[in-house]
Amino acid sequence: MRRLLIRTASAAGLLVLLVVLGVVAKAWFDSRLPDSYSAMDYGQVDDGGGPPHDHSHNLVSIETLHGPRTKPDFRTTLVAKQAEVELASGRAVSAWTFNGQVPGPELRVHQGDVVEVTLVNEDIDDGVTIHWHGVDVPNAEDGVAGVTQDAVMPGERYTYRFRADQLGTFWYHSHQVSSKQVKRGLYGAFVIEPRTKAKGLDLAVVAHDFSGRAAMGSHDGVERRRVGARNDVRLRLVNTNSSPERFYVTSPFRVLAIDGTDLNGPTPIQDQMLVLGGGARYDVGFRMPQQSVRVGIARSPTALLLDAGGGETPAAEEPDVDFDPLGYGRPKPTLLATTSDFDRTFRMDIGKRIGFVKGRPGNHWAINGKLFPDTPMYMVRRGDLVKMRITNSSGKVHPMHLHGHHLLVLSRDGKKNTGSPWWVDTLDVFDGEEYEVAFRADNPGLWMDHCHNLPHARDGLTMHVAYEGLTTPFRLGDGPHNHPE
Ligand code: C2O
Ligand code: CU
Repeated sequence: MRRLLIRTASAAGLLVLLVVLGVVAKAWFDSRLPDSYSAMDYGQVDDGGGPPHDHSHNLVSIETLHGPRTKPDFRTTLVAKQAEVELASGRAVSAWTFNGQVPGPELRVHQGDVVEVTLVNEDIDDGVTIHWHGVDVPNAEDGVAGVTQDAVMPGERYTYRFRADQLGTFWYHSHQVSSKQVKRGLYGAFVIEPRTKAKGLDLAVVAHDFSGRAAMGSHDGVERRRVGARNDVRLRLVNTNSSPERFYVTSPFRVLAIDGTDLNGPTPIQDQMLVLGGGARYDVGFRMPQQSVRVGIARSPTALLLDAGGGETPAAEEPDVDFDPLGYGRPKPTLLATTSDFDRTFRMDIGKRIGFVKGRPGNHWAINGKLFPDTPMYMVRRGDLVKMRITNSSGKVHPMHLHGHHLLVLSRDGKKNTGSPWWVDTLDVFDGEEYEVAFRADNPGLWMDHCHNLPHARDGLTMHVAYEGLTTPFRLGDGPHNHPE
């Protein structure tokens, strides 16, 4: 009798073990990605409480959503190639470059210009693309491998066309194997200037980390520039890194713009650290004082020294207070801030969960409790007013980036924004924070929405916003060699 009991118990135990193993094996099996798949086929469709996705009409290809084919006002070619580049300190970097330089050429165009950029891939084996980070281009010009185009392989070329409507500071980077390619150097500044240029000094300051060494442009030490007193200075800070970058300025300044959108009524601030999330841009402005001004990256010797000529060289000064855009500047009514009439409301809860992603076991990033590829596909219809609540309980900061749109920050941790409208395309969401943001669905397409800590995106922190009625002919995976992350 006792024997029988033991036997039954161990048989039951074995069965439980087999079932558990079976479940785990299935989870592993299901998490592997096919050799070729469509961005349309993965994701949990989320209608956000709006009218459900209408399947009745024929789907239109996003390829039809291209830029103007008229004669360009600005035309250039960017050649992606491997090159040995030298930072100002003499340190050599074997980089992946646009036109043999890191950062790639700074592109400055005028507002309203039709821009035409031809990308040529000389020898980047994985293929490359160009994504216009923060520029709300037509979807087919968005440069996402496997979503809006195929990666441009060695020997191939591809032409982007769009009208530069938004004034401000943006950047461009490859969106093929971006976690590796941006780090290696495939990025540059993209500035859209007003037709009549302001006087004074206007400079893009592109921060990048070269294996632990902070650089501004190609300067990994102190770069000096002569600027006469009383000149207006506008610095366009760009963080091309995955982690937040901290900048200090040893003179009072105003924050003129965030993510390419001017702030309303910015007031002078002093002794505040600017913390830019991965992919973010802040424009700062001040009138050049009699003494020199140092603009530096915290905890590094790297700085831009604006030399007024004579006087002391300011030392690095790292304020303990971080600048907070919430409540900064003067309010200005916007439809999105005042309406409560949203067509759809989405949630994006960033956390962690144990499971498999792409066949790998681990404690992975999760969105709304789901692992990639079951992350959300937020469905919208053209014209919708959309609200999104983002929370983060993952223990890490995530710079969340939506392509093709700008988000208006409504509140953080329940506290409404009482300052200037604060528009972002890349929002740093720290652990424990909750943001409410809103956008108008006015740019049809299939848009990536992902963490701009690019290794996080590669590890599954990625999803899409899709407009109903559209589809893409492009495919992701090893077969078509399209790997946007
Ligand atoms: Cu800066 Cu999805 O990109
Ligand atoms: Cu992240």
